[in-house]
Amino acid sequence: MDTQHTFVMVKPDGVKRGLVAEVIGRFERKGLTLERMRMLIIDEDLAGRHYAEHTAKPFFGELVSFITSGPVVAMEWSGPEAVSIARTLMGTTNPAEAPPGTIRGDFGTIITENIVHGSDSPASAEREIQLFFS
Ligand code: RTP
Ligand code: MG
Repeated sequence: MDTQHTFVMVKPDGVKRGLVAEVIGRFERKGLTLERMRMLIIDEDLAGRHYAEHTAKPFFGELVSFITSGPVVAMEWSGPEAVSIARTLMGTTNPAEAPPGTIRGDFGTIITENIVHGSDSPASAEREIQLFFS
Protein backbone atom coordinates (compact mmCIF):
# COMPACT_ATOMS: atom_id res chain seq x y z
CA MET A 1 0.00 0.00 0.00
CA ASP A 2 1.39 3.38 -1.01
CA THR A 3 1.94 6.00 1.63
CA GLN A 4 -0.30 9.05 1.23
CA HIS A 5 0.01 12.49 2.75
CA THR A 6 -3.02 14.49 3.85
CA PHE A 7 -3.76 17.93 5.25
CA VAL A 8 -5.71 18.13 8.51
CA MET A 9 -6.62 21.25 10.43
CA VAL A 10 -8.14 21.82 13.84
CA LYS A 11 -10.57 24.68 13.17
CA PRO A 12 -11.03 27.73 15.47
CA ASP A 13 -13.82 26.06 17.46
CA GLY A 14 -11.64 23.01 18.13
CA VAL A 15 -8.75 25.18 19.33
CA LYS A 16 -11.02 27.33 21.54
CA ARG A 17 -12.60 24.25 23.10
CA GLY A 18 -9.26 22.62 23.89
CA LEU A 19 -9.66 19.74 21.46
CA VAL A 20 -6.23 19.96 19.77
CA ALA A 21 -4.70 17.13 21.79
CA GLU A 22 -7.86 15.05 21.39
CA VAL A 23 -7.71 15.35 17.58
CA ILE A 24 -3.96 14.72 17.40
CA GLY A 25 -4.28 11.76 19.78
CA ARG A 26 -6.91 10.09 17.63
CA PHE A 27 -4.75 10.37 14.51
CA GLU A 28 -1.70 9.11 16.40
CA ARG A 29 -3.54 6.16 17.94
CA LYS A 30 -4.93 5.22 14.54
CA GLY A 31 -1.34 4.87 13.34
CA LEU A 32 -0.83 7.87 11.09
CA THR A 33 2.40 9.87 11.32
CA LEU A 34 2.51 13.59 12.09
CA GLU A 35 4.88 15.16 9.57
CA ARG A 36 4.44 18.91 10.06
CA MET A 37 2.34 21.20 12.24
CA ARG A 38 1.85 24.94 12.65
CA MET A 39 -0.55 27.23 14.49
CA LEU A 40 -1.75 30.30 12.62
CA ILE A 41 -4.62 32.70 12.14
CA ILE A 42 -5.97 32.35 8.59
CA ASP A 43 -6.51 35.66 6.78
CA GLU A 44 -9.25 36.29 4.20
CA ASP A 45 -6.91 35.68 1.28
CA LEU A 46 -5.79 32.26 2.52
CA ALA A 47 -9.38 31.37 3.49
CA GLY A 48 -10.54 32.18 -0.04
CA ARG A 49 -7.79 30.07 -1.58
CA HIS A 50 -8.26 27.15 0.80
CA TYR A 51 -12.03 27.09 0.22
CA ALA A 52 -11.92 28.18 -3.47
CA GLU A 53 -14.29 25.34 -4.48
CA HIS A 54 -16.99 26.89 -2.25
CA THR A 55 -16.79 30.52 -3.45
CA ALA A 56 -20.25 30.47 -5.04
CA LYS A 57 -21.98 28.57 -2.21
CA PRO A 58 -24.55 30.37 -0.02
CA PHE A 59 -22.56 29.48 3.12
CA PHE A 60 -19.23 30.87 1.82
CA GLY A 61 -19.37 34.14 3.80
CA GLU A 62 -20.14 32.32 7.03
CA LEU A 63 -17.41 29.77 6.30
CA VAL A 64 -14.74 32.47 5.77
CA SER A 65 -15.75 34.50 8.82
CA PHE A 66 -15.66 31.34 10.95
CA ILE A 67 -12.33 29.98 9.69
CA THR A 68 -10.66 33.40 10.20
CA SER A 69 -12.18 33.88 13.68
CA GLY A 70 -9.25 32.51 15.69
CA PRO A 71 -6.14 30.36 15.59
CA VAL A 72 -6.14 27.01 13.80
CA VAL A 73 -3.66 24.13 13.98
CA ALA A 74 -2.58 23.03 10.49
CA MET A 75 -1.01 19.58 10.09
CA GLU A 76 0.40 17.22 7.51
CA TRP A 77 -0.14 13.53 8.28
CA SER A 78 1.12 10.49 6.39
CA GLY A 79 0.37 6.80 6.25
CA PRO A 80 -1.32 4.13 4.14
CA GLU A 81 -4.62 5.51 2.77
CA ALA A 82 -4.06 8.61 4.93
CA VAL A 83 -6.59 10.73 2.98
CA SER A 84 -9.58 8.44 3.45
CA ILE A 85 -8.54 7.32 6.93
CA ALA A 86 -8.48 10.96 8.07
CA ARG A 87 -11.97 11.56 6.61
CA THR A 88 -13.27 8.42 8.36
CA LEU A 89 -11.87 9.52 11.73
CA MET A 90 -13.47 12.98 11.24
CA GLY A 91 -16.99 11.78 10.34
CA THR A 92 -19.47 13.35 7.94
CA THR A 93 -19.56 17.13 7.38
CA ASN A 94 -22.65 17.75 9.54
CA PRO A 95 -21.82 16.81 13.15
CA ALA A 96 -25.52 16.28 13.84
CA GLU A 97 -25.39 13.30 11.47
CA ALA A 98 -21.83 12.09 12.13
CA PRO A 99 -21.77 8.79 14.02
CA PRO A 100 -20.47 8.52 17.58
CA GLY A 101 -16.85 7.44 17.57
CA THR A 102 -15.93 10.05 14.97
CA ILE A 103 -14.48 13.45 15.90
CA ARG A 104 -17.45 15.40 14.56
CA GLY A 105 -19.92 12.83 15.93
CA ASP A 106 -18.41 12.95 19.41
CA PHE A 107 -17.76 16.70 19.76
CA GLY A 108 -19.92 18.76 17.37
CA THR A 109 -23.51 19.86 16.88
CA ILE A 110 -23.68 22.42 14.04
CA ILE A 111 -22.31 22.25 10.50
CA THR A 112 -20.20 25.42 10.50
CA GLU A 113 -18.41 24.52 13.73
CA ASN A 114 -17.34 21.00 12.88
CA ILE A 115 -13.95 21.04 14.66
CA VAL A 116 -11.72 19.65 11.97
CA HIS A 117 -10.87 19.82 8.27
CA GLY A 118 -9.37 17.02 6.18
CA SER A 119 -8.43 16.92 2.51
CA ASP A 120 -11.06 15.20 0.35
CA SER A 121 -8.60 13.63 -2.17
CA PRO A 122 -4.87 13.16 -2.71
CA ALA A 123 -4.93 16.08 -5.20
CA SER A 124 -6.62 18.36 -2.64
CA ALA A 125 -4.08 17.20 -0.05
CA GLU A 126 -1.17 18.20 -2.25
CA ARG A 127 -2.73 21.61 -2.97
CA GLU A 128 -3.58 22.29 0.69
CA ILE A 129 -0.17 21.15 2.01
CA GLN A 130 1.44 23.58 -0.47
CA LEU A 131 -0.91 26.35 0.64
CA PHE A 132 -0.10 26.00 4.34
CA PHE A 133 3.51 24.75 4.34
CA SER A 134 5.40 26.70 1.67
P1 RTP B 1 -13.91 20.42 5.27
O1 RTP B 1 -13.59 20.83 3.84
O2 RTP B 1 -13.94 21.58 6.22
O3 RTP B 1 -13.02 19.30 5.74
O4 RTP B 1 -15.38 19.82 5.32
P2 RTP B 1 -16.05 18.79 4.32
O5 RTP B 1 -15.09 18.41 3.22
O6 RTP B 1 -16.64 17.71 5.13
O7 RTP B 1 -17.21 19.68 3.74
P3 RTP B 1 -17.20 20.69 2.50
O8 RTP B 1 -18.32 20.32 1.61
O9 RTP B 1 -15.83 20.81 1.90
O10 RTP B 1 -17.57 22.06 3.20
C1 RTP B 1 -16.59 22.87 3.81
C2 RTP B 1 -17.12 23.41 5.11
O11 RTP B 1 -18.18 24.31 4.85
C3 RTP B 1 -19.13 24.25 5.90
N1 RTP B 1 -20.44 23.99 5.33
N2 RTP B 1 -21.50 24.65 5.69
N3 RTP B 1 -24.15 25.63 5.89
C4 RTP B 1 -23.90 24.63 5.07
O12 RTP B 1 -24.75 24.08 4.41
C5 RTP B 1 -22.51 24.16 4.97
N4 RTP B 1 -22.08 23.21 4.16
C6 RTP B 1 -20.76 23.10 4.40
C7 RTP B 1 -18.73 23.12 6.82
O13 RTP B 1 -18.13 23.69 7.97
C8 RTP B 1 -17.73 22.34 6.02
O14 RTP B 1 -16.78 21.73 6.86
MG1 MG C 1 -14.01 19.84 2.09
